[in-house]
Amino acid sequence: MVRPPKVIGHRGAAGSAPENTLAGFRRAAALGAPWVEFDARLTADGQAVVFHDDRLERTTNGRGRLATTPVAELRRLDAGAWFGAAFAGERVPTVGEALALIAALGMGANMEIKPDPGRDGKVARAAMEAALAAWPEGREPPLVSSFSSAALVVAREVAPDWPRGLLVDRLPSDWRDITVRLDCATLHCGHRGLDARGVAAVRDAGLEVLAFTVNEPDRARRLWDWGVAGVFTDFPERLLAAL
Ligand code: G3P
Ligand code: MG
Repeated sequence: MVRPPKVIGHRGAAGSAPENTLAGFRRAAALGAPWVEFDARLTADGQAVVFHDDRLERTTNGRGRLATTPVAELRRLDAGAWFGAAFAGERVPTVGEALALIAALGMGANMEIKPDPGRDGKVARAAMEAALAAWPEGREPPLVSSFSSAALVVAREVAPDWPRGLLVDRLPSDWRDITVRLDCATLHCGHRGLDARGVAAVRDAGLEVLAFTVNEPDRARRLWDWGVAGVFTDFPERLLAAL
């Protein structure tokens, strides 16, 4: 059983702090976000870290692919200055650091395991083991999501009791089969790929629907009206004000 809130900070609070950084998670907490979403990837030497893109250029002062960069090198990069001078010195967090902070801030979490062709299972195993080690026992466990079925299979192996969500851009025809096979609690869909009938069908199957990425309050209201349980947003403050 998973109870996602109506508003989930996307990559922290990506509209007002650098995405997937500890500063971003602190900002999300300060803005009142009950949960945050973040992305998990694997360094060249097998460390699970919090990062969205395949490549380093957009959100750090580094170059090249994250998957071929060792963690020691990654940790020397600046992951905040690109967003604003006030955030200079932010580092790429490990999954463990991120979840320890999120728990300390009293928030819930959705860890999205990013696909990494050829090693989805390896990324999932490392991210899940780091997450299990960092998350306090007794707290509602993080919701684990992925576009990759292989990653969700491994997530279930490592932590069968942690809820899982299937990520899709729009509802595929076989969403029932996939979510049953992976024993998913939630389905996370691009908001443009949803309509009232689709949301009702997924809910009738016993799943909660989450929608990304929704920054307009009017759109969030419509999605909530359709029965969407929660939306991922770069601006949690805007949508919390709309509740
Ligand atoms: O998990 C929801 C959303 O974050 C999926 O897309 O590209 O923002 O990670 P993306
Ligand atoms: Mg994501």
